[in-house]
Amino acid sequence: MCGIVGYAGYGDAKTFLLRALNNLEYRGYDSAGIAAINGHGITTIKRAGRVSALEETINGQFGQATTGIAHTRWATHGSPTDVNAHPHVSYDGKVAIAHNGIIENHATLRRSLTTAGIEFNSETDSEAIAHMIARHMDDGASLLEATQRAGNELEGLSVILAISSSEPDAIVGIRIGYAGSLILGEANGARVLASNTMAMPAEVTAVTHIDHCEAVRITRDRAEIADVIGATVVKAQVPLKPDNRITEIGEYEHFMRKEISEQAAAVQGAMRGRIDFSKPRIDIPEIDRIPNELDRIILAGMGTSHFAAMAGSRWIERLAQIPTTVEYAGELADREPVMGRRDLLIAVTQSGETYDTLTAIETAKRKGSAVCVVTASAHSEATRMADFAIDIGAGAEVAVPSTKTFINSMLVLYMMGLQIGNDRGKLSQLEFVRQIESIVALPRAINRTIGQESDVEELALDRFKDVDNLLMLGRGDLFPIALEGALKMKETAYVHAEGCSASEMKHGINALIEPATPTIVLIPKNGELRTKMLTSIYEVQSRGGEVIAIAHEMDFEVEELADRMIPIASDDEEHFPFLMTIPLQQLAYYTALARGIDPDRPRNLAKTVTVA
Ligand code: AGP
Repeated sequence: MCGIVGYAGYGDAKTFLLRALNNLEYRGYDSAGIAAINGHGITTIKRAGRVSALEETINGQFGQATTGIAHTRWATHGSPTDVNAHPHVSYDGKVAIAHNGIIENHATLRRSLTTAGIEFNSETDSEAIAHMIARHMDDGASLLEATQRAGNELEGLSVILAISSSEPDAIVGIRIGYAGSLILGEANGARVLASNTMAMPAEVTAVTHIDHCEAVRITRDRAEIADVIGATVVKAQVPLKPDNRITEIGEYEHFMRKEISEQAAAVQGAMRGRIDFSKPRIDIPEIDRIPNELDRIILAGMGTSHFAAMAGSRWIERLAQIPTTVEYAGELADREPVMGRRDLLIAVTQSGETYDTLTAIETAKRKGSAVCVVTASAHSEATRMADFAIDIGAGAEVAVPSTKTFINSMLVLYMMGLQIGNDRGKLSQLEFVRQIESIVALPRAINRTIGQESDVEELALDRFKDVDNLLMLGRGDLFPIALEGALKMKETAYVHAEGCSASEMKHGINALIEPATPTIVLIPKNGELRTKMLTSIYEVQSRGGEVIAIAHEMDFEVEELADRMIPIASDDEEHFPFLMTIPLQQLAYYTALARGIDPDRPRNLAKTVTVA
């Protein structure tokens, strides 16, 4: 949460920082600001609202500045106003800081600074840092020393960027614990510090991660990293993967629609180099690092990633015949789980930055369990903490509502289940080949389903635009899809949606059924669960509820029974969790548009959640 970036170079700092802020805006978008150093000292401009609002107010005020820092905010302390926006400037105007994190002892620090006669301008916890650095510099410290000293006085987790008019070419960054990453990129004529690789210029081909208790000082020509006592630290660079660069929106009005539309290509990204149909073989090499002696696999994630983990846990258990459990990463970290060396944690996190998921990884490591991360972010903290990471191959996802990363996380977990099951002799060759054929056919089926978009758009306009509450029912493999579909409606269109296991209806939820609350019902193609779901349709209808079914295109019984039906054009039951996700994503997207909501940037949310 919050994006920070600093630029020291020969070029125009403001132009670079605005572009970088646009690329980091997904991390928080309630206000934004830039502080840069020119001939007159530090100039700071900050505004409530989006980066575009900031851009409109700049009007050449930064002059020829070539060194500056910038911030895009997701508010924790103090409402999103111009004054509370970062960067914050010290009492003497000589220091500016951008901060990501939470200062737990901010009240004490504020009191002591106020007693010393310093006036605060904002309600934020962060402003204190600017005053503290300025006081240390007044006492003769360099910007690096002063920022380190201020950092030592903070409790909680923080990443800070600081500039000072006394060292006009320099930016200092420090990291205390984990409150988002701090990444250094170096190119000819510029040094950049940022929360994420997405802010890096195209010329940067490798990056350096700044770790806990490290500080870095950059100028346009040099970068020096120091540890807590000021000793120089030499660190290896990591090659920057092109997939981590932000993509252009192209012909699309919103990233969410773009990301829904590119899901066939995204799943091909997950399969690339891993599925060999001629053998047939699945080869995810990282799987060889799973310990042989394994009693249990625990899957964990938050939000959409939790629901992908839930789907994956069913498949891994079924295909590999290994007991699995699944839970919210935050809940795993909040208790003392009984885990040990014969357990494997699979943490699912597209960003690799989610606080709760990182703490679950920490917990598992403390207990001696192996940790695998399933992620879209090769440069993330989760990847660095885990024993091994599996890339979901989806590339960067920009819209806050996750779409393609859900499908890809599920597919990677599915392929993991198949490979482990095959390696351990739990699947017949016939079954293994059938499953691979099914995966290979998935991209085409996804494209066909995406192509039905206009029917879903019509449903959103006709029916869901004015709905306040809805229910979404699934069973078995489709239960996690109902949960994810409901989350999409909540976060994207602000419609209160309950995702439920249809088995749970009679135990309380039936009381919510009424004509104004439509029920979306996910129907499997065959078997006992289909029969049970048909019973659910009858039960909803006999209580006056309206049923919208998502079912196989030839399921005429359901078509006749339901009030409306969204058809799924695939004969392959294994495709259903993937394909049924798509109309639910589209429904959330088009309902958001019909209600005048920007689906890419829903209120009160951010794409990465780096705080508790
Ligand atoms: C869902 O659309 C959200 N983006 C959110 O629930 C997300 O899945 C959750 O915050 C976890 O994020 P992660 O995958 O980056 O860990």
